[in-house]
Amino acid sequence: MYGMVNKAIQQMVTRDHGEDAWEAIKNAANVKEDLFLSNTSYPDSITYDLVDASSKYLNIDAELILIEFGKFWVLVTAMEGYGGLMRAGGNNLKEFLLNLPNFHTRVSMVFPELIPPTFEVHNIAVNSLDLHYITHRPGLQNFVVGLIKGLSTMYEVETEITLIANRDPDTGKGPDVFRIVW
Ligand code: HEM
Repeated sequence: MYGMVNKAIQQMVTRDHGEDAWEAIKNAANVKEDLFLSNTSYPDSITYDLVDASSKYLNIDAELILIEFGKFWVLVTAMEGYGGLMRAGGNNLKEFLLNLPNFHTRVSMVFPELIPPTFEVHNIAVNSLDLHYITHRPGLQNFVVGLIKGLSTMYEVETEITLIANRDPDTGKGPDVFRIVW
């Protein structure tokens, strides 16, 4: 993944737990880089190792770290760095979610080597919809939960998020389905 992802983890950990915690986590994850370049692609394993090491060092479940990171990604990384792109995503939560399937197409103009997830929207009702999340990357479902929570805060709406279906556990194929009610 692009370095901006690892850089965002660094910013979140440093903000919430300080520089020393970040240095310890980086060492535990065996990261040799002094800093991450936003526009350079790094192996996904670095990102997974950083989440893992953060979970162990901070004694916080990896699921919770991913949820917090999803919120941070929307409210800090995306809103501060790409506010225009985020605001163009919609005037309210429903509009943003309806546009989400196309969102990373625009992001790809900035990051041409992006390997983004796929989103589909189904069962659209007045106050709810089902968001299908498809990716080859394992274990990021709680990141998606955090992203939706971040969007809820951004649009100042209360949401209920339920994982109602999982991808095939053997092949990893098919969507994870989140029912979002607001
Ligand atoms: C301006 C805002 C955004 C930018 C710049 C951005 C950029 C990125 C980048 C660079 C990656 C790493 C993938 C790679 O490097 O190949 C990524 C992954 C991802 N993004 Fe976005 N993104 C943005 C907003 C969002 C939003 C709003 C959502 C969903 C609500 C989202 C969902 C995801 C997910 C789930 C992944 C993990 C990769 C996977 O599941 O395979 N992103 N994005």
